[in-house]
Amino acid sequence: MQNAKVISIVNFKGGVAKSTTSQFMAYGLAEKGYRVLLIDLDQQQNTTYTLMQDDLLDIEKSIYDVFMKNGNIKDTIYNAGAIDFIPSVPDMMQIDFELQGKPDQPYRLHEGLREVESDYDYIILDTPPASPTIIMNALTASNDCIIPVKADSYSLNGIGLLSNSIKPVQKYTNKNLKIVGFLLGFYDNRLLLSKGIKEQLEEVANIFETKIFEQTIRNAVALSEAQAMKQSIFEYAPTGKVTNDIRTFINEYLEGENDGN
Ligand SMILES: Nc1ncnc2c1ncn2[C@@H]1O[C@H](COP(=O)(O)OP(=O)(O)OP(=O)(O)O)[C@@H](O)[C@H]1O
Ligand SMILES: [Mg+2]
Repeated sequence: MQNAKVISIVNFKGGVAKSTTSQFMAYGLAEKGYRVLLIDLDQQQNTTYTLMQDDLLDIEKSIYDVFMKNGNIKDTIYNAGAIDFIPSVPDMMQIDFELQGKPDQPYRLHEGLREVESDYDYIILDTPPASPTIIMNALTASNDCIIPVKADSYSLNGIGLLSNSIKPVQKYTNKNLKIVGFLLGFYDNRLLLSKGIKEQLEEVANIFETKIFEQTIRNAVALSEAQAMKQSIFEYAPTGKVTNDIRTFINEYLEGENDGN
C-alpha cells in the first residue's frame, strides 16, 4: 500500500487561514473518499477546538507526546467524523526549548508519522505562525507545502522569513519538499486591492519557483460560522459559494499531483 502524502499548510504570518485551509483540505479530501489524518501543531489549539467535541482539558494524549517520544502515535489519534485528527495542547509552546540541541530535533515528527503513514492517503499539518522548531519539523516531514495568503495590504510582509525557513529544509533535511503554491484567501474580486495583491504575489511566486493556485477562496463569513458550530464547511454550507471555491481548489491541487508538477 502506498504511503500517505504529507501536506503542510504554512505561513509565518498569523491569521492568514492556515487552520481554516487545513480543515477544509482535510474534509474536502475525505469527501472525495480519501483517508485523511489532520494534525494540529499549534499551541493555540484552534483546530483542536473546532474538531473536538469533548472539553479541551480532557485531552490525554496529543501531538506533544509524539514530539517527546512518549508512547505510540496511534494512541494520540481521535476521530472527527469523516477524518481522524491529533490534537494539540498548550505544552507545544515548550517544544523549541525541550528539543534544543537534540541531534534529531528536526526529525521528531517525521519519525512519529512512520507508524501511521500506511493508514492514510493524506496527512495534513496545521502549523503555528511562529515556532521555528515546529515549522522545521512540519516541513521536514512533508512531501508538499501550501502557503495560504490573505488578500490584504500586509499580506506579503514576512514572506522573506518563510523563504529563509524553507530553503534550509530543502537543502539539508528534506530535499524532496515541494512548494505546491500560494492559495489566496479572503478574496474579493470586486476589490482592486485583492487584484493588486494577486499581481504582487505573482512576483513572489516566481522567487519561490512556485505558482498561485488559479482558484481563490472568497471572503465568506460562513467559514468562521462553521468553525464556531464545530462543523466542517461541507456540513455547514454544502452548497455555499465558498464551499464550491474549496472543491474547485482541491480538484486543482489533485490535478497538479497527476501532472507531476
Ligand atoms: N476566506 C475567508 N473569508 C472569511 N474569513 C475567513 C476566511 N478564511 C479564514 N477566515 C477566518 O479568519 C480567521 C483566521 O483564520 P485561521 O484561524 O484559519 O488563520 P490562521 O492562519 O490559522 O491563524 P493563526 O496564525 O492564529 O493560527 C478565522 O476566524 C477564520 O474563520
Ligand atoms: Mg491557526
